[in-house]
Formats: sequence, structure tokens, C-alpha cells
Amino acid sequence: MKYLKNWDNKNWLSSTKYIFEFCKFLNSKVKISDKTQILDIGCGRANIISYLQKKYKFDKKAIGVDIVKNKEIKKNIIFKKIDAIKYLRKTNIPFDIILIKQTIHFFKIKELNKLINLIKKSLAPNGVVLIFSLKINHNELPVFSAMKKKLDKSLVRDKYLIQIIKKKFVKYKMSCFKFKVTISRKEYTDMLRKRYISCLLNLSKKQIKKGIYEINLKFKKKIKFNDVLDCLIYKN
Ligand SMILES: C[S@@+](CC[C@H](N)C(=O)[O-])C[C@H]1O[C@@H](n2cnc3c(N)ncnc32)[C@H](O)[C@@H]1O
Repeated sequence: MKYLKNWDNKNWLSSTKYIFEFCKFLNSKVKISDKTQILDIGCGRANIISYLQKKYKFDKKAIGVDIVKNKEIKKNIIFKKIDAIKYLRKTNIPFDIILIKQTIHFFKIKELNKLINLIKKSLAPNGVVLIFSLKINHNELPVFSAMKKKLDKSLVRDKYLIQIIKKKFVKYKMSCFKFKVTISRKEYTDMLRKRYISCLLNLSKKQIKKGIYEINLKFKKKIKFNDVLDCLIYKN
């Protein structure tokens, strides 16, 4: 699969409100303190752990790993440009929290099995894993027809991936994080043009152009929807 670059740049995903709400959600699910050692797998520009680092002033700096080195990665955390599996194989740090947000779909089935095994090994006693992925049923993301086909296919795969993860963890809880998005149609179509979401990566320029035309016809100048993530929580 192709990789996403700067996917959250200048949209709701990197907004102060989104990061604040997301971290509030995290804190409602797991105890966080200055003693917490956190790892973010597929951290992107590390906005989330950077916020947490500022808020909790972790003794051991939050670590973010990503296979892509994006622009403007936050400086107050430790960033490592590395494949998550390679990183987990070589680290011996026991993590209190391992966060994987909107990243599992990049892994092949075999890799995902390896990833989960390694995560289990890298968890501290009482450590917690939180895995977030796009809501599978009734996803509200504004889509055009070619995008919908790709998204539906990817959500079917996500469902399968989550089943695999559930089997590996056995005891887990499910929850969901919901964020109300209000965005101008212009901003949203710019995001589509930049292929901000994985399901757009393999569409042709012509399909994207046609899709934007469709979105312009289908939606008003302000687009409102809920961006919802399913969350699987495993406690060691
Ligand atoms: C959709 S982005 C999510 C970024 C971030 N978690 C967030 O929610 O803002 C998925 C990220 O996973 C990263 N990624 C994909 N495969 C990876 C791998 N094998 N190891 C580490 N990172 C990976 C991508 O480069 C990308 O930055």
C-alpha cells in the first residue's frame, strides 16, 4: 500500500479541539500520569503524544514511530522513523500505553499477527493498548461514488483485521470516539485532492476530479458529519 504523507495537515484531525477531545477520551479510558511511558505506533506528525507530553510532562518522553517522516513532526517527543515491527523487535522498553490510531489497515495479515504478538510482549504489567480504526457500520464520511467503493472494501478488511486482533487479545473492551466535524466544502474537496485518506491513494487523477465534482453537487457549502472511530482496548 502507498503511504500517507501529512494526512492531518490543516484539517480537523490536527485541530486543537480534535486533539483535546481525543486526549480527553484517552484519559477517560486509561489512567495517565507523569510516570506513564507511552508509544504511538504510526504517529504521523505526533500531535497526540506531543499534546500528552505537554499536559502530563512524562518523566520518560513519549515515543512515536512511523515509517514515514512527515513535515513538522513535533519536537517535544522522541520520534523514530522505522517500521513498527522492526522497532518493537529491538526495543526492551515496557510501555504503559500503546496507541495505534488509524494505522492497522496498513499491515498485511501476517504482519498484523506479528505486530500484536510484539505489542503483547512490549506491554508493562497493567499496560493498556488502544487501537482505533474508522467506524465500520454507518460510516458518515462524505464520499463520492468511486471513493465509497474503495472505502466499503477497506472497511470490510478492517472488520476482518479487528476480528484477528480480538482473537489475539481475548479479553478486550470496545468503545468509540466521536468528533463532530463542520468543514467548508472547499476545504473538504482540497483534502480529497490531496488524498488525505488511504482509500483515495489508488484512485486516478480523473476519478478524484470527477469525485470532487460529485461532492460539489451533493453537499452544501458547509459540510457537517460525525467522524467516528471504533476503539479496542486491551488491559494487561
Ligand atoms: C492515517 S495515518 C494516522 C496517523 C496518526 N496515528 C494519527 O491518527 O494522526 C497512518 C500512519 O501509519 C503509518 N504507518 C503505516 N505503516 C506503518 C508501519 N509498518 N510502521 C510504522 N508506521 C506505519 C503511516 O506512515 C501513517 O503516518
